[in-house]
Amino acid sequence: MDNLVIEGGKRLTGEVTVSGAKNSVLPIMAATLLTDETCIIKGVPILRDTNTMLRILRSLGKGVEMSRDTVNITSTRNNKTFADYKLVSTMRASFCVLGPLLGKFKKAEVSLPGGCVIGIRPVDLHLKGIKALGADISIVSGYVVAKAKQLKGTTMYLGGICGSSVLATDNVMMAATLAKGKTVIESAACEPEVADLANFLIKMGAKIKGHGTPIIEIEGVKQLHGAIHNIIPDRIEAGTFIVAALITKGDILIKNVCHAHLGALIDKLQEAGAYITKTDSSVRVRLKRNLKPVNVTTLPYPGFPTDMQAQVMSLMSVTPGISLITEKIYPDRFMHVAELNRMGARIQREGAHAIVEGTKQLSGAPVMASDLRASASLVLAGLAAQGKTTVARIYHLERGYENLEQKFLTLGARIWRKKE
Ligand code: EPU
Repeated sequence: MDNLVIEGGKRLTGEVTVSGAKNSVLPIMAATLLTDETCIIKGVPILRDTNTMLRILRSLGKGVEMSRDTVNITSTRNNKTFADYKLVSTMRASFCVLGPLLGKFKKAEVSLPGGCVIGIRPVDLHLKGIKALGADISIVSGYVVAKAKQLKGTTMYLGGICGSSVLATDNVMMAATLAKGKTVIESAACEPEVADLANFLIKMGAKIKGHGTPIIEIEGVKQLHGAIHNIIPDRIEAGTFIVAALITKGDILIKNVCHAHLGALIDKLQEAGAYITKTDSSVRVRLKRNLKPVNVTTLPYPGFPTDMQAQVMSLMSVTPGISLITEKIYPDRFMHVAELNRMGARIQREGAHAIVEGTKQLSGAPVMASDLRASASLVLAGLAAQGKTTVARIYHLERGYENLEQKFLTLGARIWRKKE
């Protein structure tokens, strides 16, 4: 297993290009199950999670060919409807093969994904939506077994106790594209990745309106065809580089960004005093004065993203003063707190809140990555800290950041891999 070693204290400067969005490409790959025709997806980030999804598609009978950042997904006419625990349990997004399999083949047997370190992560909303379309669902030996003679459109409310659900909206929207009649999803997730999936489905011949808003309408069609699609830029990768510029007091031009997707984050960092300028599809981030602490509450889009909570906590750890960080999507997503404290941060967790008492300087330390975004926060803290930080279990990072180490090297970071 590799560790990432960072010699902190280097100001990051230069340009970096953001890859395609992980959370768009995963459901979009699953959506190719809705057709026998070839789909071409461009701007695909090479990640552990995209490789897992390609393995799942192969296991379901798809032909998959990857060349640079483009993947061709074809039909082998050897369709299967069984998604194995071994694959689904490694990545939650694989559960969204359920909707397309059921839509296309009228049956599916998909392993339940299980929880993970960021929380229990139930799938009740996925199942509620699929049932509302008329599927018969049972749970057998850890698998969701779903069947339907014909899915039928209906109006459903998909909000949960923590708001809308991204992958549940994706799953139900995909199933509904081939249902009979009209489906209306109320309290749908508005995340840009859901809208990107809807745009791909529309290119495949689906009839969808309202994506990107809380009410999505889908008029079922008889069949879908192949399509070519470019994945939107990864807003969380962009956000991670924005924080990297600020935490190292650097000056970075971040290319291939969609400003509209970064509204809440940019607004919050500007409130803290960051100097951020937008040009076409890039943002330049630098400091003109010291940052001040800000309070952050994560919310469904267009609110502040939970996937940026850990990275902003690292930034607040080195911003003198008190900030309060409240997690409203995953109240237990605080695994990074103890690790940041090992580096000299002063963070106290109180339920779904973290009280951060910013200090001037962190010190490098051996730390352990626990999940994708927690890992990113530790790397950011390491870039700012005095001395050497060794981040263990970096396979979490490889799930969601393409070439992160190389990108930081180009910006002047002292960062390298070391075998454990
Ligand atoms: N929830 C339920 N029931 C459900 C589904 C979700 O109660 O059936 C709850 C969750 O427990 C959570 C809230 O609803 O409290 C929102 O979860 P959501 O379903 O939106 O999360 P997800 O779709 O499983 C996606 C991203 C996550 C991101 C969340 C929130 C993908 C592959 N994953 O997960 O990304 O944190 O939306 O924006 O799209 C990451 O990239 O690091 C990551 C974890």
